[in-house]
Amino acid sequence: MSTVKFYRQEHQVPLEMHKVRIVQKLFLPTVEERLKKMNEAGNNTFLLQNKDIFIDMLTDSGVNAMSDNQQAAMFQADDSYAGSETCNRLKKAIKDTMGLEHFLPAHQGRACENILAEAFVKPGQVVLTNFHFTTTKAHITRVGGSMIELVAAKGLDPVTDDPFKGDFDIDELKKTIAELGTEKIAFLRIETGTNLIGGQPVSMANMLEVARICKEAGIMTVMDASLLQDNLYFIKVREEAYKNKSILDITHELCAAMDITYFSARKLGFARGGCICSNDNELIRKMMEYVPLFEGFLTYGGMEVRSMEAIAVGLYETMDEEIINQGPIFIEYLAKELHEYGVPVVLPAGGLGVHLNASEFFPNMSHGEYPAGALGAAMYIAGGIRGMERGTISEQREPDGSERYAELELLRLACPRRVFTLSQLKYVADRVKWVWDNREIIGGLKFVEEPAVLRFFFGRLAPIGDWQEKLVKKFREDFGDSL
Ligand code: F0G
Repeated sequence: MSTVKFYRQEHQVPLEMHKVRIVQKLFLPTVEERLKKMNEAGNNTFLLQNKDIFIDMLTDSGVNAMSDNQQAAMFQADDSYAGSETCNRLKKAIKDTMGLEHFLPAHQGRACENILAEAFVKPGQVVLTNFHFTTTKAHITRVGGSMIELVAAKGLDPVTDDPFKGDFDIDELKKTIAELGTEKIAFLRIETGTNLIGGQPVSMANMLEVARICKEAGIMTVMDASLLQDNLYFIKVREEAYKNKSILDITHELCAAMDITYFSARKLGFARGGCICSNDNELIRKMMEYVPLFEGFLTYGGMEVRSMEAIAVGLYETMDEEIINQGPIFIEYLAKELHEYGVPVVLPAGGLGVHLNASEFFPNMSHGEYPAGALGAAMYIAGGIRGMERGTISEQREPDGSERYAELELLRLACPRRVFTLSQLKYVADRVKWVWDNREIIGGLKFVEEPAVLRFFFGRLAPIGDWQEKLVKKFREDFGDSL
């Protein structure tokens, strides 16, 4: 993979390999306004209005910048209900990039998960996985199944030097299969770029070994490739055996080892939509009937055809090393800036974004005071920066109503692909450092409205005590009347 060297090495920074041709003006409300907006939003960053946000790091989903070629492709969309050329082009792109013959369209990643759960999970069955994702688990539990997580211990250690923290614990996997027996296991799901533990990659060696074990045991393998793009980059740069292989060859080898590959095209492919892909037509047939039922006809599955064109081009772009390295190198830069200052971040930096370890910001705060949520509220007040709570608020309560404490209390600062400039990331680093230096002012949150399902999306919280007013006062002391 080529890198551009700077003449003065001390000035070496990540370099954008694209230029900006469409821009959106940003506004930064005053700190007093930010306090007001945060409270109007129930201290839940999902409930903020985009117009009030300066740097939106909520997610990388559906907000990645499109390329000129994607935009151009959208003009040739063939909007026929059946037999559309757009569908054929997307099918070809999946075949060319992933080597997979058949695909079912769905409107986004969780719609694929709904179909997978309906088709393959019976009540009482379990799905094995390295780590769950919120929507995946919600769909599996909705049909009466459950998930068992088998991520290796290193995955839950916020700071290690392990390059592949999303790996399965192979011994645990074998043990679990032996204990449960094949009948009880609906399928095994590999999540590439493991989202909830910090966008951490899974090694090729691990994924191939898991697939081999499953094949031997007669267990179906399903790969969630939503975050495959960053994972591919990490395989290429961190896994010796793949150093000289192309991203295309790596993708083909990986997809060939899985029974089913599905993805959210809001992430993979820089667009919007979802696809379930396989070389096994029998498996596709088992899922097929759910597409017209829940999504739309088999040629579009709830996606807008223009988006399908953009996905097709986006998949080809994903095979370009100089395109897919942009996310990880900018994320690594931000993580390093923060780490060197002493801010606790998940290391090594993964894909998707930078993850702040809220447990270390607030060592005396209990999980029940929602440290990651509190940090999210503080970051918005401090800089108009919107992150996403990935801690206890993002968990679901146990069936008996007790809290399920998250293994990691993280605030995710996502870096949507090709969106932010280096100076914007420097601003983020500056404000995070300020929050870190003022962490003792910050207190917890409590629910005032708590929905039973996916509470992190709609729940409303209030600060415990007057820490937010104190934070605003400190901001004025340090920054004067500046924004
Ligand atoms: N799988 C993974 C690994 C994801 O990260 C997501 C979405 C999905 C499935 C569901 O896809 O949103 O298209 O329905 N992650 C988003 C995020 C929501 O912000 O991390 P979707």
